[in-house]
Amino acid sequence: MSPVPTAAAAFTRRMDRIEISATMAITAEAAKLRAQGVKLVDFGAGEPHFATPQHIKDAAIEAIQTNFTRYTMVTGIPEVRKAIVERHAADFGSDYAPEEAIFTTGGKLALFEALQALVEHGDEVILPVPYWVSYKDIIQYGGGVPVYLETNEADNFRVTAEAVESLLMPRTKAIILNSPSNPSGAVIAAEDLEQIVRLARERGIWLLLDECYIYLQFEGKGISGAGFKDSKDTVVVLGSLSKTYAMTGWRAGYALAPKALISAMGKLQSQSTSSTAAIVQKASIAALKGSQECVAKMRDDYKALRDEALAGLAMIPGVTCTKPEGAFYVYPNVSRYLGRGGIENTTELSRRLLHEANVVVVPGEAFGTSEHIRISYAVSHADVAEGLERMKQFLVKL
Ligand SMILES: Cc1ncc(COP(=O)(O)O)c(C=O)c1O
Repeated sequence: MSPVPTAAAAFTRRMDRIEISATMAITAEAAKLRAQGVKLVDFGAGEPHFATPQHIKDAAIEAIQTNFTRYTMVTGIPEVRKAIVERHAADFGSDYAPEEAIFTTGGKLALFEALQALVEHGDEVILPVPYWVSYKDIIQYGGGVPVYLETNEADNFRVTAEAVESLLMPRTKAIILNSPSNPSGAVIAAEDLEQIVRLARERGIWLLLDECYIYLQFEGKGISGAGFKDSKDTVVVLGSLSKTYAMTGWRAGYALAPKALISAMGKLQSQSTSSTAAIVQKASIAALKGSQECVAKMRDDYKALRDEALAGLAMIPGVTCTKPEGAFYVYPNVSRYLGRGGIENTTELSRRLLHEANVVVVPGEAFGTSEHIRISYAVSHADVAEGLERMKQFLVKL
């Protein structure tokens, strides 16, 4: 008789290589307090405060009414793949065929599939710090090793081609870049991006470009590395409709990559989700092909909110903050307050802010730095002011 496994022994080793997403953990703790009737200011969740635009919702409703509710092709129906490549070509000058696109259940799944398809045990993946929480875990889940590219806060967390080049090793398999960045809002300069695209091509290294926030760049237009000459063999574009069109709950994302990689990702998708929901594909076509006016409007509001968030932070003694160039986060340095009132790190600070000031933030430790907290300002203007005032009152008493 085989022994009954204990709970601890019942899970695979790869499960030990990942942790629950820190942003989701904070959201869950905040939800508990909210259920008890506590009025929180929520700077934690990384999602738009806007409703999904009406024409996108209408397309999904029409899909339901016309019974577009069956299984679809694994990689997405031809129209959605065409809409993805046409939108990207029009906005960034890329040149992909629909067969070089896959529609996924959120951008996170596109990242997951690409890394599972590309990273072998022991392969190194270069990751600029601060990084979005999920990169590290997804690399590790696949057996890869994150190699951290440290950036300088005094230089706005800038990622340079030189810094990337200095980390390239025989085991380097991929580089992940995210511009504008979650959590810092930093944008990679066009010259650096072009050089990194060239480096990746010359060295045969995959360059994963997470363009989740590319439409939320405040100064000038977002630039895709896939728009540069000869980029296609090594670049993998990871896109998302979540933030661009306020569609986080719909789970709509995509990848653009060489056909062979798209097929590998499709193979994985065929054995997991099968495809994205049929009605979400119809809604996404409406988003990608419809007027982009809604995106511009939301971007303008994020920019105004950023300025208000920076002004509010400037009122808190000793807190400094780089100026984000995109996305909807500020990443203030709160080191002045560490070591006070029994608070030793930003995880503890975030917990105390939640319970004592009823403000939700995410600790910098989740993004690989020890002196910051992440504030998502995708909230109402009144909440930006109220939340930062509560933070100030809490901090100055420490
Ligand atoms: C940098 C970055 N990439 C990708 C994603 C994934 O977004 P989604 O899976 O909702 O498309 C997020 C979501 O927070 C993000 O911040």
